[in-house]
Amino acid sequence: MGNCLGSSTRIDATHSTSEASKFPSGSLAPSSISVPSHSSKSSVHSLPTPRSEAEILSSPNVKPFSFNELRNATRNFRPDSLLGEGGFGYVFKGWIDENTLAAARPGSGLVIAVKKLKPEGFQGHKEWLTEVNYLGQLHHSNLVKLIGYCSEGDNRLLVYEFMPKGSLENHLFRRGPQPLTWATRIKVAIGAAKGLSFLHEAKHQVIYRDFKASNILLDGEFNAKLSDFGLAKAGPTGDKTHVSTQVIGTQGYAAPEYVATGRLTTKSDVYSFGVVLLELLSGRRAVEEEKVGVEQNLVDWAKPYLGDKRRLFRIMDTKLEGQYPKKAAYTAATIALQCLSREPKLRPNMTTVLSQLEELQSPKTASRGENRTSFDPVYMSPLKHRNTARNVTPSASPLPSYLRSRVK
Ligand SMILES: Nc1ncnc2c1ncn2[C@@H]1O[C@H](COP(=O)(O)OP(=O)(O)OP(=O)(O)O)[C@@H](O)[C@H]1O
Ligand SMILES: [Mg+2]
Repeated sequence: MGNCLGSSTRIDATHSTSEASKFPSGSLAPSSISVPSHSSKSSVHSLPTPRSEAEILSSPNVKPFSFNELRNATRNFRPDSLLGEGGFGYVFKGWIDENTLAAARPGSGLVIAVKKLKPEGFQGHKEWLTEVNYLGQLHHSNLVKLIGYCSEGDNRLLVYEFMPKGSLENHLFRRGPQPLTWATRIKVAIGAAKGLSFLHEAKHQVIYRDFKASNILLDGEFNAKLSDFGLAKAGPTGDKTHVSTQVIGTQGYAAPEYVATGRLTTKSDVYSFGVVLLELLSGRRAVEEEKVGVEQNLVDWAKPYLGDKRRLFRIMDTKLEGQYPKKAAYTAATIALQCLSREPKLRPNMTTVLSQLEELQSPKTASRGENRTSFDPVYMSPLKHRNTARNVTPSASPLPSYLRSRVK
C-alpha cells in the first residue's frame, strides 16, 4: 500500500536554529538531518539511503507552498479559521483549488488544515522536517494525508487534508460534541490500530512515538487517521533514544521503559495504544491533574478493574449510559490490559490487537449482552440534543448497518 522507510534514519538532536536558518528551502546545502529514501512504485523495496533536507523537500508527493499562498488560503490566518492549537503552533482551516492547489475562495475547492509552527527559535524545525519526510512517503488510509509544506524565512507550515470531525481528544473530553457511542469508539480504535500496525509491519519499520488522543484525527465517518510524525523514528526495535521533553509532552501515554531508560521499541507504541483504548472505555484523560491520589493517573487507577468482569462497569464512561455490550467491553478491557503490561515482551503486537478488535465488530459479539433501550443511543446525550435524533436520516448514523436496524 504505502512506501516504507529504512532503518537508517538519523536525526541529529544538535540541529540548531542557526544551522537551520543558513539554508533556504530547496537549497542543496548539507543538512544535519538525514533520513532514508524510499522506493516509490515497486513492491520490492530498495535499500534505504540517507536523504538530505533538500531531497526530502523536493519529494514529488508534497507541494511546496509560498507563505502568501497559505495566507490567502486561510484568509490571513483569521482567528475564526482556527481549528486548534498544539505544542508547536496553531492549525487553521483553508481552501485550495483541487487541481492547481492554488489558494481558492473560502467555501470552494478542497478544504485543508494548515499548521503554522510558532517561529520562535526554530525549535520545531527538526520535527517539521521529520513530518514532511515521513508523511511525504507513507501513504495509508489511516494516516493523515500531507498535501504540502511551506518553508519561507523563519516560517514553517504544513498543509494537510482537512479532517471534519477534528481529533479524538475533542470528542472524548471536551464539552459540546455528542458523546461517542460504543460502536464509534470501537471503529476509532480499529482505524488507529490499522494505522499503527501499518507502520510496525512495514518492511522498514516505523515507531510512531506520539500515539495519543489528540493525534488521532477523524473524518466525516469517524474513520481514524494518525497525524503528527514529527517524533517518529525508524526501527529496528531496541533503538535507544535520549529521553527528551517530548516524553513529557506525551505524559501519561509513554511506556514506562521509555520514560525510565529512553529505550524505544514498537512495543512502546503498543503501550500508548493501551492508554488510548482505556481513554475510549473510560472517557477519562491519561492524566487528570485536578484529581487526587491514584485517580490522577488513568492506568494506575483503572488497571485493577480491567481483568474483573463484575467490576469493570466502575471504570466505564458514564456518558455511554450503559449502552454497550458487556462481553465486548470486557474483551476490549482485556486487550488494553495486555497492551499495558509493564514488560514490553508481554504486550501483543499491533496485528494481534487489530484482529482482536475487529472481532468485536462481528454482529454476534457486538450485540451480545447489550443493554439497549428503545431510543437510538447514537444521538442521545445526557445533556442536550435530545430532539436532534428525529432530524437525522438513518444513513447518517455512524453505527454499522446491522446495529442501526436493531436500535430503531
Ligand atoms: N488535518 C486536520 N484537520 C482538522 N483539524 C485538525 C487537523 N490537524 C489538527 N487539527 C486540529 O488542531 C488541533 C491541534 O493539533 P496539533 O497537532 O497542533 O496539536 P496537538 O496534537 O493537540 O498537540 P501536540 O502539539 O502535542 O501534537 C487538533 O487537536 C485538531 O483539533
Ligand atoms: Mg497533534
